[in-house]
Amino acid sequence: MSLFHSTRTLPEDATGAALRADVRDGLTGTPKTLPPKWFYDARGSELFDLITELPEYYPTRAEREILVGRADEIAAASGARTLVELGSGSSEKTRHLLDALTGLHTYVPVDVSESALTRAGQALVAERPGLRVHALIADFTRPLALPDTPGPRLLAFLGGTIGNLLPAERAAFLAGLRAQLSPGDALLLGTDLVKDEGVLVRAYDDAAGVTAAFDKNVLAVVNRELGADFDLAAFDHVALWDAENEWIEMRLRSRGAQTVKIRALDLAVDFAAGEELRTEVSAKFRRDGVRDELSAAGFGTTHWWTDREGRFALSLSTVR
Ligand code: SAH
Ligand code: AVI
Repeated sequence: MSLFHSTRTLPEDATGAALRADVRDGLTGTPKTLPPKWFYDARGSELFDLITELPEYYPTRAEREILVGRADEIAAASGARTLVELGSGSSEKTRHLLDALTGLHTYVPVDVSESALTRAGQALVAERPGLRVHALIADFTRPLALPDTPGPRLLAFLGGTIGNLLPAERAAFLAGLRAQLSPGDALLLGTDLVKDEGVLVRAYDDAAGVTAAFDKNVLAVVNRELGADFDLAAFDHVALWDAENEWIEMRLRSRGAQTVKIRALDLAVDFAAGEELRTEVSAKFRRDGVRDELSAAGFGTTHWWTDREGRFALSLSTVR
């Protein structure tokens, strides 16, 4: 039996309302910001997949190396019958977990990108007869309506996507996850690690310009969804390392003074020449920091694995 089923947990208009609120708040604040979840329309998801293949973008390869080496240990330690994956995207690396989880009943990928979920879910059920895939089109920072499937559950959050949340958002997010899990469930968390600044900046400002196109895609999303008139060529992609916060920041820098109109908000936004709009933070972590954040949310870390070069870590935690 092959099963692909998808559920939209928010009414269709909730996404539009959330985008309108985020764009209004973000572009009328100082400094200007936009939340990174709006990168991921169909084009943004495609661009992210291209990023994962860039020579400069090491996190995907490093995390895959850990999964290849440790999937059996992860499966044995969790004994999961349900695998829930937040921000699953293409589910490409997840295949190693699916191979190892021999008693798996259902895979629940969760993503805001409907196109990525549909493509990944349909490919998985076609290649794995018997696998049940119940996709959730949902914002993982909100309470999840998880399907009624057997435990124990393994909740995977891979790719270092937790680093795209700000520290206060991370604390609330982890506490919220903990509240949705039961004793016996586990959290598998991918975290990118602090390293040489040059390596980090190159990973977010690649020579081929794919990350620049990904960054600017958020403007294309606002143009299409909210009738805005952003000229993508009037902004430059910027990636910089914030040593104090230990995060990479992506920004879009206005090439000149300009006014952008956003029809659906009845809003005109002025940019000064050189003014920057922050589009993403990508926090990098240290082992103690990850353990402490998890502990504060009620998780106890039982395993910590890194790739051979120590660039990226996967941790496994249980609920306390
Ligand atoms: N886990 C994959 C993809 C990482 S890209 C990997 O490791 O390669 C980040 C993914 O998270 C994208 O697919 C994006 O659509 C999704 N995403 C980002 N913010 C989200 C949110 N708030 N809720 C649900 N999905 C989100
Ligand atoms: C999804 N997330 C972990 C990526 C990152 O590395 O922060 C998004 C990304 N932004 C630019 N390149 C990749």
